[in-house]
Amino acid sequence: MDNIKQYVQENKERFINELIDLLKIPSVSADSAYAQDVVDTAEAVKKSLEKAGCDFVELCETPGYPIVYGEKIIDKNLPTVLVYGHYDVQPPDPMDLWTSPPFEPVIKPTEIHPEGAIFARGACDDKGQMYMHVKAFEYMIQNNCLPCNVKFMIEGEEEVGSKSLSWFVERNQAKLANDVILISDTGMISNQQPSITTGLRGLSYVEVEVTGPNRDLHSGLYGGAVANPINILAKMIASLHDENNHITIPGFYDKVQELSLEERAEMAKAPFSLENYKKALDIEDIHGEAGYVTNERNSIRPTLDVNGIWGGYTGEGAKTVIASKAFAKISMRLVPNQDWEEITELFKKHFESIAPKSVKVKVTPHHGGQGYVTPIDSIGYRAANKAYTETFDVPAIPVRSGGSIPIVALFEKELKSKTILMGFGLDSDAIHSPNEHFGVFNYLKGIETIPLFYKYFTEMTK
Ligand code: BES
Ligand code: MN
Ligand code: MN
Repeated sequence: MDNIKQYVQENKERFINELIDLLKIPSVSADSAYAQDVVDTAEAVKKSLEKAGCDFVELCETPGYPIVYGEKIIDKNLPTVLVYGHYDVQPPDPMDLWTSPPFEPVIKPTEIHPEGAIFARGACDDKGQMYMHVKAFEYMIQNNCLPCNVKFMIEGEEEVGSKSLSWFVERNQAKLANDVILISDTGMISNQQPSITTGLRGLSYVEVEVTGPNRDLHSGLYGGAVANPINILAKMIASLHDENNHITIPGFYDKVQELSLEERAEMAKAPFSLENYKKALDIEDIHGEAGYVTNERNSIRPTLDVNGIWGGYTGEGAKTVIASKAFAKISMRLVPNQDWEEITELFKKHFESIAPKSVKVKVTPHHGGQGYVTPIDSIGYRAANKAYTETFDVPAIPVRSGGSIPIVALFEKELKSKTILMGFGLDSDAIHSPNEHFGVFNYLKGIETIPLFYKYFTEMTK
């Protein structure tokens, strides 16, 4: 694998152009207006796997969007790496904040990516990171150095809860049998300091509806005399945190795994600048649960956040009205051992119990998933660390991430295998935000590093 650097240099224009073609298809899974584009993207991913050298590739039909499955089995006695990724993307809105259209990729330099970054929805999350695996595989085929078996499983519903993938995994354990699962759908500390994600948070996502009077009312004639569902909802939401920013839902913290002081001291060694953090977000001060620092608040602690809130009149000008209904979408990020279904139930019970008699409350669960943690002494972790050390000249640091990939816990349950999260994105890449981008450096470095994982994982497994 000595010539991987050279292979990347010789082919980088083509690697970038192929990714750009994939990014042009707006595969937004949340919005049915894009349904055909999502399917077209699956087709494009299938073709890319065939071209890269898979022996067998298929689109597996599901109740939802198809799953692209591909494989190259060279010897049943050798280990098998299962690569997972997703070809769907988040909705691009708010559109007016993009400096270039989200599905017309362009390469522009940024402060952090002076060599250029590809700007497009899905550039980092996850088309760019997923496609690194296709190109790394292409290299190993072209150079006759694929050391083990590979299976690819690329889904189209990750951004909306992976329902069809759960359905698929439960029905295809034998087909998906593997020795390790490899995913690039997370980040790293910086381009100078690689990290390996050792934990993901779980998630419970709910929608709430508060109903007051049976119709919208004149706010002069009725204001002050009947409950305003928006006022009530705001108050109920505010009461979900106390003055220390602890969540007030009874039982919410019961199963939370507390980290030892040693573990927290270890975490604190990861480089972090509070000043830069505030500057990057243009905020005067940070916020969070008392007793924990920023890097803990966004990884090892559970949270509750309103993701959207609406009701009443929001159009131009003023309309004097008391709305009949108010709504909010709320997510709770969970940590290992917290069960997402149990937490959803606790939320529902509590939210209903704090509603005054003057309104009716409905809580509808959306989706969720369990958190995940993985040890750093596994073969997979050590192989990944060795690969990073070789391409970045420094060892990777283990980091627990605040994001969620709920399917990872399901993989462990159904396929009995550990997942290694080799992410190459940066927090500043603006995933899920306007102007999402992925550094050209990161994209090429990923393609360079992945084959080394295969090599060391196979060597260490023997
Ligand atoms: N790739 C992200 C998750 C992620 C990003 C983890 C960065 C760690 C670091 C994934 O596509 C995502 O957005 N997941 C959702 C959950 C899903 C159920 C919608 C999330 O975390 O909000
Ligand atoms: Mn993702
Ligand atoms: Mn995402």
